[in-house]
Amino acid sequence: MTHVIVLGNEKGGSGKSTAAMHIIVALMKTGHRVAAIDLDMRQRSLSRYIENRRKFSENKQMDLLFPIQPEVRASSLDSREASREEETANLTGALSTLSDCDYVVIDCPGADTHLSRLAHAHADTIVTPLNDSFVDFDLLARLDPVTGALAGPSLYSEMVWNARKRRAMSGVPGGIDWVVMRNRLSATRARNKAEMGKKLEDLSARIGYRIARGFGDRVIYRELFPLGLTLLDLGGRDAPVRLSTMSHITARLEIRSLIATLKLPPRETREAA
Ligand SMILES: Nc1ncnc2c1ncn2[C@@H]1O[C@H](COP(=O)(O)OP(=O)(O)OP(=O)(O)O)[C@@H](O)[C@H]1O
Ligand SMILES: [Mg+2]
Repeated sequence: MTHVIVLGNEKGGSGKSTAAMHIIVALMKTGHRVAAIDLDMRQRSLSRYIENRRKFSENKQMDLLFPIQPEVRASSLDSREASREEETANLTGALSTLSDCDYVVIDCPGADTHLSRLAHAHADTIVTPLNDSFVDFDLLARLDPVTGALAGPSLYSEMVWNARKRRAMSGVPGGIDWVVMRNRLSATRARNKAEMGKKLEDLSARIGYRIARGFGDRVIYRELFPLGLTLLDLGGRDAPVRLSTMSHITARLEIRSLIATLKLPPRETREAA
């Protein structure tokens, strides 16, 4: 009954960990039991984000919400097969302990790893943040260099396609809902923004994703990481940091819009299924 949300994109630095943390806090703030799994074994940005949140909460003696954090280890075995088997057991073992959670949010690394593929195959919802650049778009689809027409799916779309196939064959009911979210949208580069928008629209029907409104390029996201806070923690009378500018308020609306676009099934619907 737990709904699994996977943040994935093989392109590094597209905003997976930032979006993961905002989704986790948004869901906790609406009263849900949420687990967070960090599969980026090297950078551990999501784990570091949550560690910063704990430190902030202790130092300021503030009650903040925290997700459940089951540990999933990478294998250090030499044999590729044995290592994959161990990692599969680690992830499925961790997921099996989370049946009383409403949502599990899994943050994947910006690389193709066995754990990341496995997480995608367990996803009910995949969220793919994408920087507004054709370099990032290249991982979703290839464009004809002369005409600019869509030439076919690319690495990451193929990975999602395989995850969908695996899921369909596993007999688990329901498919994978895939949402692409544009990130770091610039207020100035209007032409590039419009061209990317058009290509993403064209591709969405062909490879089966929905498009979320996305996040603007805002310095506040970088400032919040060391504090362990999200935009959703700011604002109220007792808030640690005030929502000071129009940009912050708009950013908060962008997060709410993303959550609404995800159309996550409420607890009652999942219980009834
Ligand atoms: N909308 C945004 N505006 C400004 N900065 C952003 C935005 N989203 C993310 N960032 C910043 O961009 C950097 C990369 O973001 P993040 O770590 O979330 O990406 P990632 O996809 O998880 O990266 P990796 O693939 O390395 O794990 C961080 O410094 C983050 O603070
Ligand atoms: Mg990350």
